[in-house]
Amino acid sequence: MTTKDTLIKKLKDKTANIAILGLGYVGLPLAVVFGEAGFNVTGVDPDTRKIEAIGRSESYIPDVKSEAVANLVKSGRLKATTDFSILQNMDAVSICVPTPLRKTGDPDMSFILSATEELAKYMHKGMVIVLESTTYPGTTRELLLPKLGMEHDLTVGEDWFLAFSPERVDPGRKDWTTVNTPKVMGGITNACGEVATAWYEGAIQTVHQVSTAEAAEMAKLLENTFRMINIGLVNELAIMCERLGVDVWEVIEAAASKPFGFMKFTPGPGLGGHCIPIDPLYLSWKMKAFNYNARFIELASEINTNMPRYVVSRMLEAMNDRGMLLKGSRALVLGVAYKPDIDDVRESPSLDVIGLLRKKGANVEYHDPYIPHIHHETDGWRMDSVGDVMSAVRKADAVIVVTNHKVYDYAAIVNEAKFVFDARNATGKIAKGNPKVERL
Ligand SMILES: NC(=O)c1ccc[n+]([C@@H]2O[C@H](COP(=O)([O-])OP(=O)(O)OC[C@H]3O[C@@H](n4cnc5c(N)ncnc54)[C@H](O)[C@@H]3O)[C@@H](O)[C@H]2O)c1
Repeated sequence: MTTKDTLIKKLKDKTANIAILGLGYVGLPLAVVFGEAGFNVTGVDPDTRKIEAIGRSESYIPDVKSEAVANLVKSGRLKATTDFSILQNMDAVSICVPTPLRKTGDPDMSFILSATEELAKYMHKGMVIVLESTTYPGTTRELLLPKLGMEHDLTVGEDWFLAFSPERVDPGRKDWTTVNTPKVMGGITNACGEVATAWYEGAIQTVHQVSTAEAAEMAKLLENTFRMINIGLVNELAIMCERLGVDVWEVIEAAASKPFGFMKFTPGPGLGGHCIPIDPLYLSWKMKAFNYNARFIELASEINTNMPRYVVSRMLEAMNDRGMLLKGSRALVLGVAYKPDIDDVRESPSLDVIGLLRKKGANVEYHDPYIPHIHHETDGWRMDSVGDVMSAVRKADAVIVVTNHKVYDYAAIVNEAKFVFDARNATGKIAKGNPKVERL
């Protein structure tokens, strides 16, 4: 049997040993899905707190139940370690490390590079490696292939296999999860794609194989760029509607009544999270090397980036119209996570909104049931969430809804507050005709 056939057999009968590099929002759910499908999985992460938590059978990712981790740990199908040398015994490795942007807007490949360098030390014949981290097109072939292939005399597509498969997890989502969201897979060679698909098909319901790693990398960037541009479009629509004196939320609902050819996006205080604000910029960054300016991305990014400032200026105007002064006022920000019902504050526009309110002289407090503390590293401020939301609402001069968590009782908030600026239409019908509420 060829190396490829032997590996596919091991993957199909689930005797292959699996490693996941990076046990965060993407890696831990993936490790659990592979474990539950019957593979022996080892997670490798330099963060000792995560490794210790798994050792105690505890999940630290809201989408993964501690019970699921406990069952797998107990049966021996999930282990976690900081020791990369276990990779020498692995047949299949998935890389789920972060890919942030640097402050200059360039992709920060340092996590991918360090994970790859560790992996390169333990490469051996008969290994399949899949990169899941979102990145610019070409990363798998230009960055991983030479590093992994260089030190050992192994031929990709024959002795070992390399592919890209973008993660599509939507934290907090219950209907589409890691196991039932179709997975795109693209190999460096056809054989690479086949081996990686055989592996993932053992645990994930649908694997959509494409012909190259680049097509898979680009598919992910299309998905997120599509969202980012459409959010930019509705954000600009909100700005235009305000000038025209038209209710943007009513307009969007009306357009969304069309059963075909329209997809609903809603305006807000700006983009957040690890993906939508960042991923399209990988593409525009890469295109610069081809002397091509990705104009849609640049324009949508400009509009979206300006939304926190626009929201604060609208709040200022609304307070002014009511004879209120923002400077010196007590302003309560409701919700700081980047989207509803999750505990992730990365890139959240609430951080910008809070920073701008502080600069305008407001005394800012926040409440978020999922985020007890925030630390703005660049601006150097820290805050703790207020404990009792309704008592803070009563004390505040102005409440601003930045993230529309479902746990809030918006009718009670509007009732008790002196003034509410709602950047998410969380107050919906309650706001209509209510002089205390101003919506984006
Ligand atoms: N969070 C999401 O919703 C989401 C969705 C789709 C795609 N992604 C992409 O998936 C990737 C991972 O994102 P995440 O949200 O899971 O990040 P995360 O920060 O939650 O987790 C990454 C983990 O990698 C670990 N790590 C760092 N360097 C490492 C190394 N050299 N070796 C092994 N582990 C290392 C970190 O300690 C951390 O635990 C990113 O590229 C992201 O863009 C994330």
